[in-house]
Amino acid sequence: MKSSERKEILGFPISNPIVISSNNFSDSLDKILKMFDYGAQIVVTKTICNEESLSGKIVKKDLSLFNTTMYSQKTFDQWLSIISKLVRLEKNIVPSIFARNEKEIVYMAKSIEALGVSAIELGGVCPNDTGSSSIHELASAIINETNLKLSVKLTADQNYLEQVSSLSEKGISTICISDAFKASSIVNGKIEEVGYSGASIKPIVLHAINEIRQNGYNGEIIGVGGVLKNSDIEDYLAVGANATGLCSSLYFYGLKSIQSLSQYKYDYWR
Ligand SMILES: Cc1cc2nc3c(=O)[nH]c(=O)nc-3n(C[C@H](O)[C@H](O)[C@H](O)COP(=O)(O)O)c2cc1C
Repeated sequence: MKSSERKEILGFPISNPIVISSNNFSDSLDKILKMFDYGAQIVVTKTICNEESLSGKIVKKDLSLFNTTMYSQKTFDQWLSIISKLVRLEKNIVPSIFARNEKEIVYMAKSIEALGVSAIELGGVCPNDTGSSSIHELASAIINETNLKLSVKLTADQNYLEQVSSLSEKGISTICISDAFKASSIVNGKIEEVGYSGASIKPIVLHAINEIRQNGYNGEIIGVGGVLKNSDIEDYLAVGANATGLCSSLYFYGLKSIQSLSQYKYDYWR
């Protein structure tokens, strides 16, 4: 493929592989706009859930992150207003949403679709929470009730092969893998359940993507986990990801690091 040729993810033409994975910087309009300015092709919002959520904390250790954040601190109505601004500015915004049942997820998805959004992500595997409807039931409800393109977020330390084949049967053609892993941290002698991410999860996510491809999945894959430098992105593209999601790198190197990652000429893009 020639470098001038643009690729696509979730129906958005992209000229570099940089997607911003859901995180706490993507909980703010200003920061979302900055991430686009620095060259991000798609920004996935912090997961929006129509219920109250604790703010949580984010601890950095070496090149890993331990986070106990849950859902966005903004209300759904606040998000509808932010999203409509981004749509008016023609930004490739992908709201990440989660709900505990099909009725609620369809309400959220339809309200977002009505603003002119074309794609959303289902962020239902947050390590800090579990819903009552399965990710498959929620995904099917969105596919059946809306015309939105849908990315489903999976975790690379869970039964991803079964999940991908069952989601493919339902017509889902974009997978985002991986969410943070479920892990435990000992804080002042107490066990704290955290989401664990960063450099150390990358080899496990690469393995998962390789297995998913070898198992015959030919839909889109956004590879996420420990993408900190150009060579990490080359590695993800080499195992069959179509684009890569940044999260930890923003905490270690700042939003401006998006600029150099997005300007680099990746082999896959030549
Ligand atoms: C502080 C923080 C907040 C996050 N919030 C969300 C979220 O709301 N929804 C979601 O699907 N993933 C969330 N994630 C997971 C990231 O999108 C990403 O999948 C994961 O951290 C792996 O990427 P990394 O190794 O680059 O951090 C969060 C991660 C961190 C560190």
